[in-house]
Amino acid sequence: MATPISLDQTNFMTVVTDTPTGPVAQAIAAHKHRQGPLLPILHDVQNALGHIPSDAVGEIASALNLSRAEVHGVVTFYHSFTSEQQGEHIVEVCRAESCQAMGGRDIEAAFKQQLGLDWGETSSDKKVTLEPVYCLGNCACSPSVRIGHKVYGRVDAARVAELIADIQEA
Ligand code: FES
Repeated sequence: MATPISLDQTNFMTVVTDTPTGPVAQAIAAHKHRQGPLLPILHDVQNALGHIPSDAVGEIASALNLSRAEVHGVVTFYHSFTSEQQGEHIVEVCRAESCQAMGGRDIEAAFKQQLGLDWGETSSDKKVTLEPVYCLGNCACSPSVRIGHKVYGRVDAARVAELIADIQEA
C-alpha cells in the first residue's frame, strides 16, 4: 500500500517567505542590512521596473521602518527616480547655458514637435520619454543630447530627425 504524501504547511511557508520574489523584494533583500539602504534599493527598483511604483514605496517603507512619506520624498527629490512608467528610450535634451547659447532651444523645439511630447511625457507606445537635463558634461560640443547612455554633440535639426528615426527603428 502506498504511503500518503504529507505536505508540511509550515515548511512550505518558510520557503516562500525566505525567498524574495519580484524586483522590489529582491532589492530589499540585497540592501536592507547595509548602512543607508534606501538609495541602493530605489536604484535597483528603478533599473528593474523603469520607475518606482506606489506599491513599491509602501513595501520599501515597511521593510526599512520608514513612513511612506519619507520614501516618497526621496523618490521625488532625486531626478534619477520616477513615479511614472518611463519609455524604453529616455531622450534628455540639455537646457543648460552652453547648449542654450548654441541653439539648444531649437533642438528642444524640434524634439518636442517631432515626438509630440512635452517635458516629462512618455509616448503612448511607451517607446520614448522626453526629459530636460542641465549639463551633460559635453559643453564643448553643444548643443548636446543624451539617449540612454550615449551622449550626442553638435546636434542640429537634421540630427534630431535621424536620432528619432533610430529610436523608432530600434
Ligand atoms: S551645457 Fe549642455 S552639455 Fe554642458
